[in-house]
Amino acid sequence: AAQTFNPRDDIKPKDEESTVSNDRLPDPLSGIESPAEWPARREQIRQLFATEMFGNVPTDKLNAIKVKVKVKDQGTRKSIFGGKATMWQPVVTLAGRDLQLLIFLPSESKDTPAFLAYNFHGNHTVLDDVDIPVTEHWVRNKPGNRASAQDRGNGASRWAVEKIIDHGFALVTLYYGDVDPDFDDGFANGVHAALADKPAGDQWGSIATWAWGLSRVLDYLETVPEIDEQRVAVMGHSRLGKTALWAGANDERFALVISNNSGCGGAALSRRRSGETVARINTAFPHWFCKNFAHYNDNEAQLPFDQHMLIALMAPRPVYVASAVEDTWADPEGEFLSAKHATPVYQLLGSEGLPAKEMPAVDQPSQGSIGYHVRSGGHGVTDFDWTEYLKFSSKHLLNK
Ligand code: GCU
Repeated sequence: AAQTFNPRDDIKPKDEESTVSNDRLPDPLSGIESPAEWPARREQIRQLFATEMFGNVPTDKLNAIKVKVKVKDQGTRKSIFGGKATMWQPVVTLAGRDLQLLIFLPSESKDTPAFLAYNFHGNHTVLDDVDIPVTEHWVRNKPGNRASAQDRGNGASRWAVEKIIDHGFALVTLYYGDVDPDFDDGFANGVHAALADKPAGDQWGSIATWAWGLSRVLDYLETVPEIDEQRVAVMGHSRLGKTALWAGANDERFALVISNNSGCGGAALSRRRSGETVARINTAFPHWFCKNFAHYNDNEAQLPFDQHMLIALMAPRPVYVASAVEDTWADPEGEFLSAKHATPVYQLLGSEGLPAKEMPAVDQPSQGSIGYHVRSGGHGVTDFDWTEYLKFSSKHLLNK
């Protein structure tokens, strides 16, 4: 039977500005009793997230103008890491935008599992290599919003490329701004430029657009013999962690999903109002979610879902939620509680979910079919994070 747990204690806020919501967390299993009923319930929940939060993709319009990912340039290949890996940079186009892919393959790859993850500042920041072109698209926090060659490799600490290769995985990355530049321009630029109308209140914001872009990259990866499209893990940090979750929720081809410090609008429960709130995120980043989401500013109790139900949309696929203890803006405990309260859905489907019942100690991961850790340090992606993602992904995708 549908459970009626009261998570009031769980959702008590951490900071003093917050107010305790008297509302209960909605039950992902409401109205259902058997695994056979889950797909319909799942679709109901997915549609609620699409309509009230991330926005629906205007599929009919995109089909009408025949939007598909196409190969533009097969790109160059180069042997790196003393011959252990090949770096390959094909260019695909999507709705008139060039997406420059940066792919690292273990040498002699065939049907290799892969991580697919957007980068924040351009491919040239992932690894210091003169053959990786500096992005010409709009970038954040740079003079004139232009990237420069001086930034080569300056995000390398966030990308354990060699370690990923050593574990037998490929890495596919691209700059998220290639799909949609991350600023509020009324949806005039990016892939939106191909469409005549602006998004309606229930249509895609930028996060949904980036998530859709990841699915289109997966369409392309289905044509790449070196990569096993059935073992692609989608990963993202922060706003791109929110994006990875929404991509995994919409596209069940993603075999595994990793949310790194995704916080509000990602893994963190909105009803806790701890750290970033719905009102704060909608004010600072009005283009990320659909317009309907603003109805829940300071009104979280009215949300027909909470973020544990976003995690539950991955079930029974493995999903990892990671926090950092100093990253209070992203509410580590709220992220843990989402993973915990998604567990009943996994269990209905015969899968373990998250082993930990209480918030694990710092740097002590808990890994079942849901993984969670809170590591020491602040907002970012570290070697510790990748070590755990590789352990988790090796277990689930390589049977190791
Ligand atoms: C801001 C924002 C967060 C987001 C983060 C990021 O801090 O408030 O919601 O996750 O940027 O993407 O780095």
